[in-house]
Amino acid sequence: MSRTVVLAGASGYGRGYLRQLAALEAAGAVRLAGVCEVHPLDDEGRTLVGDRPVDTDLARLLDRTGAEIGIVATPIHTHQALGRQVLASGAHLLLEKPPTPTLAGWRELVELTRSAGLVCQLGFQSLASDALTRLSALIREGRLGELRGIGAYGAWSRTDGYYRRASWAGRREMDGVPVTDGALTNPFAHAVATALVLDGSTGYGDIAAVELELLRARDIQADDTSCVRLRTVRGTVVTVAVTLCAAVESEPVLVVHGSRGRAELHYTRDLLVVDGRAEHHGGTTLLENLLAHLDDPEVPLRSPVDSCGGFMRVLEAVRTAPDPVPIDRRWVRRRGEGDAARAEVAGVEDAVRTSAERLATFAELGVAWASQGSAPSPDPSPDPCPVPAPRTGVAG
Ligand SMILES: NC(=O)c1ccc[n+]([C@@H]2O[C@H](COP(=O)([O-])OP(=O)(O)OC[C@H]3O[C@@H](n4cnc5c(N)ncnc54)[C@H](O)[C@@H]3O)[C@@H](O)[C@H]2O)c1
Repeated sequence: MSRTVVLAGASGYGRGYLRQLAALEAAGAVRLAGVCEVHPLDDEGRTLVGDRPVDTDLARLLDRTGAEIGIVATPIHTHQALGRQVLASGAHLLLEKPPTPTLAGWRELVELTRSAGLVCQLGFQSLASDALTRLSALIREGRLGELRGIGAYGAWSRTDGYYRRASWAGRREMDGVPVTDGALTNPFAHAVATALVLDGSTGYGDIAAVELELLRARDIQADDTSCVRLRTVRGTVVTVAVTLCAAVESEPVLVVHGSRGRAELHYTRDLLVVDGRAEHHGGTTLLENLLAHLDDPEVPLRSPVDSCGGFMRVLEAVRTAPDPVPIDRRWVRRRGEGDAARAEVAGVEDAVRTSAERLATFAELGVAWASQGSAPSPDPSPDPCPVPAPRTGVAG
């Protein structure tokens, strides 16, 4: 069945969706009904959109096209309003991650989706990988023994140009509106969400405790070098230690520590390494999975909106935590010029990797730049109004 789709946000990350929609349209799977953009499209964008309407107002575009699916790939602080418009029009929603910059916003979208009888998929594409499905099965079947913990680490480097490209980049809020664009909640959001899926702890109430260390090497509002340690209700310790200020970049890895085995999930590469043996997997895309689910509800959604409660617990803890602690200049080196300039934190690659191996925080590891007063954050307040969420992992 060929479904009609509109896309909001077509020039940044959304350009990938525009290209994918063109390929799916050529295969007869979808029909692009129009695009919502607030800035002029470039040559490639205009070619891909062709004679379809381009509108600055998503509600108007949905009304005019009667689209069955709305994809939202716009800045984080616009997600709640645009997601609401898609669902209010009666269309299914594919919403980029993080779903919203606040817990309350996510709750509203969960409720709107449920009450309208619609489907909402979130853009955590790591959850569409068959490597995750396989690892979830290995854990469930006890092939790694008892689960001792899950440690994730990531070391990327962002340039000054990355932060200049968009007014919301690296912001906790803008004019009083929450944005929550920190390392844990946006670039490495997949690491947090995927670790929780592996533990089957996708509900808000599945998280028993949250400890945060939020730091920043750059002169930005949000964290760029951070560690979170969670204890889930089922007793698993989950750590995620990440930086956007690496001198040497490497792709993020989730390390599953079992009593009888160890697995590494390289989620950006669909690569699973079990006790040293590499397995390469394929997967689907979140849009294709959404289409397959709409055609046949027996096909499970890989990243349904209501399986994001554990992630939102972390996001809310980050959002409401004190400002990130600036890393002393002694430990930060600036390299490059202009938009290509970078900040590098001394030894951060080792710190994030060791955190994942030992399930330890930066402060516990005695990392010099982290011992300047980044106290663990208080656990967020107990859930006043829990959203029930499935206990099982979305890909498991
Ligand atoms: N899944 C992933 O791996 C991944 C990777 C990168 C970004 N993202 C997510 O994609 C989203 C967009 O990120 P980005 O880096 O492309 O942002 P961006 O600011 O670079 O681009 C966003 C696009 O949306 C447009 N836009 C802004 N407000 C709009 C509105 N109200 N209506 C319609 N269009 C609007 C902008 O003109 C721009 O074309 C974010 O949620 C981000 O977290 C996801």
